[in-house]
Amino acid sequence: MKAVVIHETGDPDVLRYEDADRPVPGDGEVLIRVHAASVNPADWKNRRGSGDRPLPRVLGIDISGTVEGSRADGFAAGEPVFGMSASGGYAEYSTASAAVIARKPEGVSHEQAATIPVAGGTAWQALFDRGGLHGGQTALVAGAAGGVGHFAVQFAKVAGARAIGTGSTPNRDFVLGLGADEYVDYTHQDVGEAVRGADVALDTVGGDTTAALVAAVREDGMLVTIAAAPPEEAARERGVRAEVLVNSPNPQQLARIAELVAGGDVHVEIAEAMPLADAKRAHELSEGGHVRGKLVLTLAA
Ligand SMILES: NC(=O)c1ccc[n+]([C@@H]2O[C@H](COP(=O)([O-])OP(=O)(O)OC[C@H]3O[C@@H](n4cnc5c(N)ncnc54)[C@H](OP(=O)(O)O)[C@@H]3O)[C@@H](O)[C@H]2O)c1
Repeated sequence: MKAVVIHETGDPDVLRYEDADRPVPGDGEVLIRVHAASVNPADWKNRRGSGDRPLPRVLGIDISGTVEGSRADGFAAGEPVFGMSASGGYAEYSTASAAVIARKPEGVSHEQAATIPVAGGTAWQALFDRGGLHGGQTALVAGAAGGVGHFAVQFAKVAGARAIGTGSTPNRDFVLGLGADEYVDYTHQDVGEAVRGADVALDTVGGDTTAALVAAVREDGMLVTIAAAPPEEAARERGVRAEVLVNSPNPQQLARIAELVAGGDVHVEIAEAMPLADAKRAHELSEGGHVRGKLVLTLAA
């Protein structure tokens, strides 16, 4: 099969589009013929050296495709599924634990479904499982135009909450178009000065943004970070709870998010869909830090 493989960690040049062995599913796993794989910052962090799977390694986590063979209950050959890959998603075939995948509804394309597991799942868990967000509250999403952020803004609105998004000037109309009630342009305003009293803040940005968000959260509110350590001391001083979230795969949540996409309640923004062979360009774009929505790698059907 064709796959994007790294034999060493490093810059985007280490990505090789080449022939690789088809992975073999273990007990409880399915073999998936991949139709689309989405790109996450975790992929290029992994390429640079994070992660502990042995080299050579197929990169990529998020996949959507068709079950080719199954060593697990509940999934039969031919079924369209999406979720997190075990063997690496940038490949024509990938294995996944049956415990972490969900059926893809008909009204959702493989390209759309492949964007959901990491970005959608993380947004959902940050706002609801960790943040406890509910209708009538206010969610502040830093990085609202990104993969995680654009899902988070829309999930907050679906839950009946108010959503405030942050981003740069060119993303204002995009984020407001997703349903955000307010937009803070970080090139003109400091989010910690512009916003007060948020019940839940989700930091997808890291760096200086993480600490700045503390002032925007109400006392006893929650700051959930996914890209940096929580600013524990500053948060404690203001009576704000601050916690880091690490995504844990949850197929029920994936199915719920896919339903929202199928029903038109949540829009998946695909910045660009490109062939698997263009993974290097996709990484360069993602590492630039300003992709709107998601990048998707497509495979021949
Ligand atoms: N802990 C976990 O389980 C977990 C899960 C998923 C992701 N993450 C991490 O979370 C981070 C975000 O992931 P992602 O997939 O959403 O990334 P992404 O899609 O690459 O994020 C890009 C977006 O970030 C925005 N951005 C950049 N600088 C900003 C700033 N100073 N303020 C506001 N927005 C800014 C950009 O908007 P502009 O162009 O308008 O600046 C762009 O739309 C990554 O570090 C990723 O590794 C962690």
